[in-house]
Amino acid sequence: MLTRFDFPVGFVFGAATAAYQIEGSAFGGCGPCHWDSFASTPGNVVRAEDGSRACDHYHRWEEDLDLLKAANLDGYRFSTSWARVMPDGVNVNPEGLDFYDRLVDGMLARGLKPFQTLYHWEMPSALADLGGWTNRDTCHRFADFSEAITRRLGDRVSAIATINEPWCVAWLSHFMGVHAPGLRDIRATARAMHHILLAHGLALERLRCMGQPNLGIVLNFDHATPATDSPEDQAASDLWDAIFNRWFIEGITRRTYPANVLKGLGPHMPENWQDDMALIGQPLDWLGVNYYTRHLHAHAPGTPWPSLRDVPGELPRTQMGWEIYPEGLHHFLIRLARDHVGDLPIYVTENGMANADVVEDGQVNDDVRESFLFTHLAATKQAIADGANVRGFFYWSLLDNYEWAEGYEKRFGLVHVDFDTLARTPKSSYHALARALARND
Ligand code: FCB
Repeated sequence: MLTRFDFPVGFVFGAATAAYQIEGSAFGGCGPCHWDSFASTPGNVVRAEDGSRACDHYHRWEEDLDLLKAANLDGYRFSTSWARVMPDGVNVNPEGLDFYDRLVDGMLARGLKPFQTLYHWEMPSALADLGGWTNRDTCHRFADFSEAITRRLGDRVSAIATINEPWCVAWLSHFMGVHAPGLRDIRATARAMHHILLAHGLALERLRCMGQPNLGIVLNFDHATPATDSPEDQAASDLWDAIFNRWFIEGITRRTYPANVLKGLGPHMPENWQDDMALIGQPLDWLGVNYYTRHLHAHAPGTPWPSLRDVPGELPRTQMGWEIYPEGLHHFLIRLARDHVGDLPIYVTENGMANADVVEDGQVNDDVRESFLFTHLAATKQAIADGANVRGFFYWSLLDNYEWAEGYEKRFGLVHVDFDTLARTPKSSYHALARALARND
């Protein structure tokens, strides 16, 4: 069994969460966000559940930070909600700033390194009304938010990520319609695909001017596997790879977008998008990598661009229906270092699995998660041995929480949450991780 001593000195082991998924947006003067309206539209979210109470972390944050510390973790990846800090998208809510101030101090008091994410999807409704990420102006509002929250927390956080998972923000939410705002519109998609990176660039520039160190972005990656070795399926899989795994990192590191994606999105891109690429391509201090699974694709003749379809694979699956494929994590860590970021520090900022966990006699047995976690840690260790500069690993998630369109049904936590009583019960995977991370002192 791996322990912390199998990893380089200073490697950060952590767990991750996001504001809307745990805090409870009904508390503390938080404003409405596009997830509230998406969730209250029938058919979008399982049982139309929303994040108004979630895990009530807003009130129980001390207990939750204690859980991180007792697991012997070194860091905590959390996010600061735009709608909590700026309920109308413009004016600052002092209660929101105070909450995050207490939270960061609470982490430091427990020896936990704060890894902050600025946008983990709470677009204030007032800005969603103006077009959200389809509107270029939103990018400037995001830079304003980034500045306001950083003025308050910037002296104490270890690292800041601008955006969590641009692919989900843009493609999943504007092309597939699965996440808020639930659009299925190629023109909106092209705009969101570009504007989300422009928002990143503007925020980065603003925070750099303030002298803020250790700035990065969190991208997600999905291993693209062709369904067969026919040239058509290979091309379909390459296109998926370009849409998911190359668009954002190439925008940042090469200041251009993949040609096979521009073939479809080009006519819908905002005017003169090329002029933004220098801003988007500013150097990063670190890269965050979220990795969960792989997908198989085949060519789908007779359907509009991108003309591909999902083909089910044969690997064991999680409660989300996602195939378990740790080799994919090794693949991306090596590939990103080799093709894109060289020696830049990389953090695995999310990796985890959902499982239908139940409490029995006060305990939760999730051996399957333990094995998932340790095989992905082993893939990370191998990537380090093969030359990738990986500096940390954050498990998704600390707590069972609001899993977006899946409501509260899918459980990703190291800690079980009873959504009636809000009682927290550490699972067996939590205890296994705590043992592996014990410091021998
Ligand atoms: C990622 C999200 C995170 C969580 C996990 C399961 O796409 O960043 O909020 O939902 O998936």
